[in-house]
Amino acid sequence: MKIPGKGLLSRIFRNCADPKGALGRLMLRMMNFGHRPVYAWTFDHCPLADGMRALDVGCGGGGAIVELSRRFSTIRVDGIDASAESVAMCRRRVAARVANPGEIVQGVADALPMADSAYDVAYAIETVYFWPDLCAGLREMKRVLKCGGVAAVSVECFDPARAGVWKDLVGHMEVRTPEQIAQAFRDAGFANVSIFKKGENRPTWCGVACVVGRRLA
Ligand SMILES: C[S@@+](CC[C@H](N)C(=O)[O-])C[C@H]1O[C@@H](n2cnc3c(N)ncnc32)[C@H](O)[C@@H]1O
Repeated sequence: MKIPGKGLLSRIFRNCADPKGALGRLMLRMMNFGHRPVYAWTFDHCPLADGMRALDVGCGGGGAIVELSRRFSTIRVDGIDASAESVAMCRRRVAARVANPGEIVQGVADALPMADSAYDVAYAIETVYFWPDLCAGLREMKRVLKCGGVAAVSVECFDPARAGVWKDLVGHMEVRTPEQIAQAFRDAGFANVSIFKKGENRPTWCGVACVVGRRLA
């Protein structure tokens, strides 16, 4: 598909994987707004409640943390992201908009600097495309969850056959089907793995898929 203004769009969208500088901040603001339906779809499939502790892995500019803290005013959400730019924006937004702020730290999904069994829910939205090892990241999410805790991974791009436009704009990203993500959950030791999809038949947009699994042991 021919995309008008592709050069500029691509310079902006390349910041999805590793936001940096002014274009990185622009992309983070666009995601904070544009990913709101994905945040909602993710939270709708997690057993969240007031007083819980949650972890946002690949938290970007903090849009999901703000949204979740709006739904549950006494939830405490920590965030981690590989990009210093994302961490800086997320900290600013959380400080300005969240009543019960958690910690926002820089780090990577496959080596989470969080204690074992600390969280009720851990989620990762629109980020697993960029993780070098999905299963290692999921094993880390399982480690930091309490027994009975739930992990969720959400992606808008989950049809490898229709991912070309996004790969062109974003650069290197690994697009997996929800079934492949679900298998990675099982390989990481999660139980009760389920897939929730909507909008998958739209012609130019992939829809949204959320895969959830529970730590039983
Ligand atoms: C497309 S953005 C999504 C941000 C946010 N989750 C949202 O939906 O608004 C992807 C984010 O994942 C982060 N990221 C990429 N690889 C990562 C990794 N291995 N560990 C942690 N964060 C990572 C990027 O720095 C970026 O902030």
